[in-house]
Amino acid sequence: MLMNDQPLIQLRDVVKVYRMGRKEFVALKGVTLDIYAGEFVSIVGPSGSGKSTILNMITGIARPTGGRVWVGGVAIDRLSENELARWRRDNVGIVFQFFQLLPTLTALENVVLPLDLAGKIRGSKAKREWALECLARVGLESHAHHLPGELSGGEQQRVAIARALANDPPILIADEPTGNLDSETGEAVVQLLADLHHQGKTVILITHDRSLAKRAERTVSVLDGRIVGLGHEAQ
Ligand SMILES: Nc1ncnc2c1ncn2[C@@H]1O[C@H](COP(=O)(O)OP(=O)(O)O)[C@@H](O)[C@H]1O
Ligand SMILES: [Mg+2]
Repeated sequence: MLMNDQPLIQLRDVVKVYRMGRKEFVALKGVTLDIYAGEFVSIVGPSGSGKSTILNMITGIARPTGGRVWVGGVAIDRLSENELARWRRDNVGIVFQFFQLLPTLTALENVVLPLDLAGKIRGSKAKREWALECLARVGLESHAHHLPGELSGGEQQRVAIARALANDPPILIADEPTGNLDSETGEAVVQLLADLHHQGKTVILITHDRSLAKRAERTVSVLDGRIVGLGHEAQ
């Protein structure tokens, strides 16, 4: 947690141009956005508006073509690929629409994987214990030894959230996490994100669904590569 008023995440005039051969597509047309430590923010907009591209900027998955990105005071747009990979592992947990669990590993083994990569916890017993704690946080301790194929969609997404929590990152960012779930299961996943926010995580929910977006404290509306609205739900 930052103890001052500096935003945790700062995007300044971010432009992102995708190049496909000789064609160019301007996916972000000057996005300026501040997100503070401990916030629960949704980024909402129609398909193709640039939401996932904003995620790519915040996580360093892709580099801005123009503008600057700071996260936790680090200018992530200036890091090398190796520095970025290490930074991302420690600072952001990412949850995707299609879960992206490894199908041949159990729920527990999927959560242990990022622990193996980080090397902060030593010893397989300690890793498994911590992974089990992460699964307990999402209510899935009892399913630790199931393969993804033996779990429902909602359960798979919970495992993916547990995996995102494994290295205890301050930021959790979920890109259409309910897009592959029925509405009731999706609701439960968003409730879990709200719970994690109450436990101190900075949570960013990306969705095209305005009613889900309202579950966050604050909504950032994106249209055609631009931010077109910043609203607190009380307004
Ligand atoms: N790697 C890429 N190469 C070319 N165009 C891309 C790439 N990624 C996204 N785009 C385009 O940029 C626009 C915004 O994409 P995206 O950020 O994924 O939107 P959203 O997540 O809101 O649906 C879309 O028109 C998409 O086709
Ligand atoms: Mg998207």
